[in-house]
Amino acid sequence: MNNYNHIEIDPKELAGKRVLVTGGTKGGMGEAIVKRLTKAGATVITTARTTPDELKNTELFIQADISTVDGTVKIVDYILERFGGVDILVNNVGSSSTPTGGVLKQTDADWQRTFDTNLFAAVRLDRGLIPPMLKQGYGVIIHITSIQRRFPGENTMAYSAAKAALANYSKALATELAPKGIRVNSIAPGFTETKAAERLIERMAQERGCTYDAARQSLMDSLGGIPIGRTARPEEVAEMVAFLVSDRASYIVGAEHTIDGGIVRTL
Ligand SMILES: NC(=O)c1ccc[n+]([C@@H]2O[C@H](COP(=O)([O-])OP(=O)(O)OC[C@H]3O[C@@H](n4cnc5c(N)ncnc54)[C@H](OP(=O)(O)O)[C@@H]3O)[C@@H](O)[C@H]2O)c1
Repeated sequence: MNNYNHIEIDPKELAGKRVLVTGGTKGGMGEAIVKRLTKAGATVITTARTTPDELKNTELFIQADISTVDGTVKIVDYILERFGGVDILVNNVGSSSTPTGGVLKQTDADWQRTFDTNLFAAVRLDRGLIPPMLKQGYGVIIHITSIQRRFPGENTMAYSAAKAALANYSKALATELAPKGIRVNSIAPGFTETKAAERLIERMAQERGCTYDAARQSLMDSLGGIPIGRTARPEEVAEMVAFLVSDRASYIVGAEHTIDGGIVRTL
């Protein structure tokens, strides 16, 4: 195991920064990113479809379905009205819910929903929140893609294609906005053991009558193995986000950063 818990965080590094992280609940990467950037002193607003019971600061939470036009409009309007914009935008939400069984099982509606969630949500939020960034001549945008954009999954071809489109869009946006003081980058995680991933592994273990560890191993094997020997923790992805949104990364523009323990073998 590494020494992640000993990493020192500067509590003032992001002081005064307004941040939006989409999908910051339910023990996923978004939640880890919210916690990490909050520890660095930022004011972090988050969104989800379900309002968490334990919500402490309602001003920093927006209930909205990000895969719809209405959902993104609601988020943008709220942020412009209450905060005048954000300095940092982390487009974290993304998922695949297409049926298994191959290409013929995947309907137009499945493809559309997947692209709405994984591509258009980010395009719409960026478009709504870039104007105040342009006005202040400063901003940072992160898109969370996936290694699947280069390594398409067996039953997740729509998701992989949407993430490929997101990475491509992110690069074009970075080129357009860099001269105006806005840095855009993307992050491609590998197999990250979020609460949702844990539930998936538990379900697989139950269905196959094997242990949790055996089910996790078979998922790792289906990826061709993970050279580092384990899955990622959401906090490890959050650490990369914390670096990329900070001024420590002031010259990093238009790059996709893979964080996968070595799963993708190609350069
Ligand atoms: N986990 C992995 O192994 C992995 C690997 C590669 C890439 N990624 C990418 O990393 C990002 C984070 O994934 P994760 O696994 O950490 O996610 P997660 O655990 O599934 O968390 C999802 C979060 O997003 C919210 N959410 C989901 N759909 C939403 C919608 N339509 N509108 C608004 N909020 C929504 C959820 O709340 P509600 O359900 O209440 O809406 C929750 O807050 C995604 O872009 C994913 O594609 C994940």
